[in-house]
Amino acid sequence: MRIAVFRKAHFNAAHRLYNPNWSEEKNAAVFGLCNNHNYHGHNYELEVKVSGEVDPETGYLIDLKILKDLIREKIELRFDHKNLNLDTEEFKELIPTAENICYVIWNILRSNLDDKYDLSVRLYETPRNFVEYPA
Ligand code: NI
Repeated sequence: MRIAVFRKAHFNAAHRLYNPNWSEEKNAAVFGLCNNHNYHGHNYELEVKVSGEVDPETGYLIDLKILKDLIREKIELRFDHKNLNLDTEEFKELIPTAENICYVIWNILRSNLDDKYDLSVRLYETPRNFVEYPA
């Protein structure tokens, strides 16, 4: 039986959207409020979807404790209460849009999850704005 398991998580982080190759004017025009010089925070909500075949011996797809700990150790501890631009290696060069954050999270989880699972990640930057990878 193929099935999907979900785990929700949450972190608060600050960011600023800024392309160093552009003028101040172009950055302000393209990124608007998210270009604010002094950064601003978001309450990011994360939904991680793992799918695959149920193990007939356990009845589990994946032990949710393992998924919970993985998200906590690899994502929450890395990004929670951080300034994504200043405090993280991942966004030193990469603009911390919801799209890029979602992709980075997917990559980190993917490299820590058995290949037998399919993985997708949804990231809410606000209750109404969210992105999903893979698309
Ligand atoms: Ni923002």
